[in-house]
Amino acid sequence: MKALKMCEVTARYRGADRDSLSRVSFEIEKGEMVLLLGARGAGKSTLCMLANGLIPHAIPCTLEGSIETFGRDISSLPVAEHSTKVGIVFQEPENQLFCMSVEEEVAFGPENLAVDREEISERVEWALEIVGLKGYNDRPPSSLSGGQKQRLAIAASLSMRPEMLVLDEPAYALDPIGRLELYSLLTDLKRRHGLTVLIAGRDAEEAATCVDRVALMSAGRMVRTGTPAEILAAPEPLRSIGVPPLQVSELIEALGKKAKRFEYGAITVDALAGQIGEALGEAGTDR
Ligand SMILES: Nc1ncnc2c1ncn2[C@@H]1O[C@H](COP(=O)(O)OP(=O)(O)OP(=O)(O)O)[C@@H](O)[C@H]1O
Ligand SMILES: [Mg+2]
Repeated sequence: MKALKMCEVTARYRGADRDSLSRVSFEIEKGEMVLLLGARGAGKSTLCMLANGLIPHAIPCTLEGSIETFGRDISSLPVAEHSTKVGIVFQEPENQLFCMSVEEEVAFGPENLAVDREEISERVEWALEIVGLKGYNDRPPSSLSGGQKQRLAIAASLSMRPEMLVLDEPAYALDPIGRLELYSLLTDLKRRHGLTVLIAGRDAEEAATCVDRVALMSAGRMVRTGTPAEILAAPEPLRSIGVPPLQVSELIEALGKKAKRFEYGAITVDALAGQIGEALGEAGTDR
């Protein structure tokens, strides 16, 4: 079953003089982890908010085309059910955290759904354990680091037991360690908990090695979707739409100018090290 199925979707915000999405067709399989990649203004946030129902339920937008989440057309899906099925986490976790303690924050969603007390406690413990914040129950969210706040925002979403999690530039405000922790958490959510994950970002550096598929957007259009290697290996098509290429591709590009043996294809340091090793006549040796 498809977690998300958009067919020829055109979206225009109320009062805007042009479309923010133009005839976008895009699908995500249940259990898939997808990177939605595009430059500033490409339409990533618009697509994310459509996936979770914030558009059009909270943010008015004129829509054409059809959108289904888990087999249901969004026009026939009650708002509360839609936002429960598809959770969303934004780039600045501060804007999503407003309770006095970590525990209250995670309990807030299920409390609003009138889940019973015992189950709420279970969900809070479960979600905090998954995101690595077990034992932080009484801490004020303001006392957490940026990465911990981001993981708390994820826990607050997980406690609603969503089937899909949409993260809009979740790594934006994080340092390199925070980013690695975030991507390892997201990989875990997909592998161990079967969650469908959509991550929007302006670069693919950390996500490249953990997502199943990359969807490339530019100026409100879906340019191409494919495996990370298919979409990310060559730097020029990314550059041409304002997306920074992977550092590995830039290194291959620089090496290629000196020696013709290097070709795009490697998207990880290990794969590139293999190519360099072969070029040096040291094939088979470990890094
Ligand atoms: N509320 C709004 N009203 C009118 N136009 C909007 C609104 N929000 C976004 N837009 C426009 O829609 C287009 C797509 O915006 P969107 O925020 O989806 O892009 P994005 O890829 O998320 O960009 P960024 O990387 O800057 O977050 C842009 O041209 C933007 O100016
Ligand atoms: Mg955005």
